[in-house]
Amino acid sequence: MIQHLAILGLGLIGGSFARALRASGAVGTITGFDTDPQQTTTALRLGVIDRAADSASAAVAEAQVVVIAVPVLHTADALRACRDALLPDVVVTDVGSTKGSVLADIRRDFGELPPWFVPGHPIAGTEKSGVANAVVDLFRNRRVILTPHAHQDPAACATVTALWRSVGARVVEMAAARHDAIFAATSHFPHLLAFAFVDMLARRDDADDVFPNAGGGFRDFTRIASSSPAMWHDIVRANAGPVRDLLAQQIEELQGLLALMDAGDWPALQVVFERARAARERHLSQIE
Ligand SMILES: NC(=O)c1ccc[n+]([C@@H]2O[C@H](COP(=O)([O-])OP(=O)(O)OC[C@H]3O[C@@H](n4cnc5c(N)ncnc54)[C@H](O)[C@@H]3O)[C@@H](O)[C@H]2O)c1
Repeated sequence: MIQHLAILGLGLIGGSFARALRASGAVGTITGFDTDPQQTTTALRLGVIDRAADSASAAVAEAQVVVIAVPVLHTADALRACRDALLPDVVVTDVGSTKGSVLADIRRDFGELPPWFVPGHPIAGTEKSGVANAVVDLFRNRRVILTPHAHQDPAACATVTALWRSVGARVVEMAAARHDAIFAATSHFPHLLAFAFVDMLARRDDADDVFPNAGGGFRDFTRIASSSPAMWHDIVRANAGPVRDLLAQQIEELQGLLALMDAGDWPALQVVFERARAARERHLSQIE
């Protein structure tokens, strides 16, 4: 059991992990810190954390494990803010949606990746932000990806794995570059598309008439455009190479569809729809 755990960043993910760890009994005391004092106050009031700290250093001073749950481009800042206060045998992990950028930023600060830093990413979330939206069972039966690095202490990895398992998650490991390529395709690029599509409609002169008449399909397709712009700015910027390549590929695909429509090749359009539906059905049937 971890006697004392600190969470830096008390938003949806940090708050949900705190709630889940509390419920699992895997940790004793949870101390939290957020650069937005309102989040820290709310976390304490809701009983998500036991103690509120007024700085990152104060939060980690007694912690055996530190979880960094801030927007990805701020992960290294959060670690820098507390590095002098970390216990000698600490384990630090993160939950960021990109891994290559986080590792590069930390390597820059420390000269080499510290053995006690375990990069992680829970594949769970919602379009909501903030500790008020934290849910206790967000990670149950969901994957958590760890991307251990060359200097990784296996014991640190085992500690983080045990924490995620205690809240019902399944832990898998993969290389950071592979992680970033996969999540560019399945998450980062779809968010960019959803934001762009809603923005395009919102800028139409008749937007006030279009949105109220939208149905379930529109809701399903655009749900993720309600996500935090600041968080997604960081993710797309941090994983810009793979996301940009997908955007270029999608533009080509759309131009292909335009050509089919201009040519009146409706059967070919239906073939695309059939291929896509079959791929999605196959994917759904394979989900563990
Ligand atoms: N929301 C999701 O669906 C989801 C899923 C998996 C992973 N993630 C990752 O989890 C992380 C957190 O996302 P979230 O959804 O909880 O966002 P959120 O906006 O709900 O919470 C982030 C919190 O971090 C705080 N913060 C920013 N900089 C800080 C710093 N230097 N020190 C301390 N606190 C700081 C913010 O004030 C905010 O309260 C991100 O890296 C994101 O990529 C999100």
